[in-house]
Amino acid sequence: MAKKVLISNVLPDEARALIPADVQVDYNASDTPLPQTEFLKRLTGKDGLICHIISTIDDAVLSAAPSLKVIANVAVGYNNIDLAAAKRRGVVVTNTPDVLTETTADFAWALLMGTARRLVEADHFARSGQWRRWQWDLLWGTDVHGKTLGVVGFGRIGRAVARRAQGFAMRVVYYDTVRADADTERELKATSVDLHTLLRESDFVTLHTLLSPQTRHLIDERTLRLMKKTAVLVNAARGPIVDEAALARALKEGWIAAAGLDVFEEEPQIHPALPPLTNVVMAPHIASASRETRLAMAMLAVRNCVAVLEGKPALTPVA
Ligand code: GLV
Repeated sequence: MAKKVLISNVLPDEARALIPADVQVDYNASDTPLPQTEFLKRLTGKDGLICHIISTIDDAVLSAAPSLKVIANVAVGYNNIDLAAAKRRGVVVTNTPDVLTETTADFAWALLMGTARRLVEADHFARSGQWRRWQWDLLWGTDVHGKTLGVVGFGRIGRAVARRAQGFAMRVVYYDTVRADADTERELKATSVDLHTLLRESDFVTLHTLLSPQTRHLIDERTLRLMKKTAVLVNAARGPIVDEAALARALKEGWIAAAGLDVFEEEPQIHPALPPLTNVVMAPHIASASRETRLAMAMLAVRNCVAVLEGKPALTPVA
């Protein structure tokens, strides 16, 4: 019998073209999630699902699709999927690591630089007609070069962010539950420290951990208060790693200097205390959004799905 795949949201033509002709594809070309009843109806009887992080795949969803063999998430993070439930039901879950590492690291740096040098405020100032004359003390920021970068989560993306810091002659410290090997530490000139030391000593703290029960609200009032008053926080990982209400207070009351955020606790909602603040730079979850990388992610997700349907091992299964 022909295999059946649901692609629950938009995916580039080049990626969909990798699906063999004998596979029946049910494709929702929109970028908004299907209403839940329609999603469950269209998932029923499918062998594969290719989805984005806007799809929540929990046990109830899985129970509607007993024939499902693979969920190919078009993202490196997979907190939208109940992994334990998938495992119980023998469904393979895959993600898209590696292909987005450098692009995401570039964007974390864009947030870091843009926040440190007040680029968004400067842009608003220049384009709004407020710029009347040269001013000595206009929009002073803080230097990036020569400072201390603290990387929380020293996996692929965290390391790529650390590698870029060498070009800025920065001291790099990192915190991870697993220590990197000596060669990696030497290559990246990075020193392993505990979280509290990292928060106390870093001028820039950048988050690159997965979201898990252990990392939810890792950055909260208690940990924000450990940071330097001059420090900048960057989050291009997952919103709930930061207690957004506590962060808004920290930014407003000056416990830290500024933040660059690509992710939020309740996307697409943003805590109402954040937008009025000028010391936060915000982006709508676009760290991996370059043309090249989004295509590579889509292609990898399709290849994962097809491999499992053909009885082969997935290329990048989630451990
Ligand atoms: C994006 O957020 C991803 O996890 O790839």
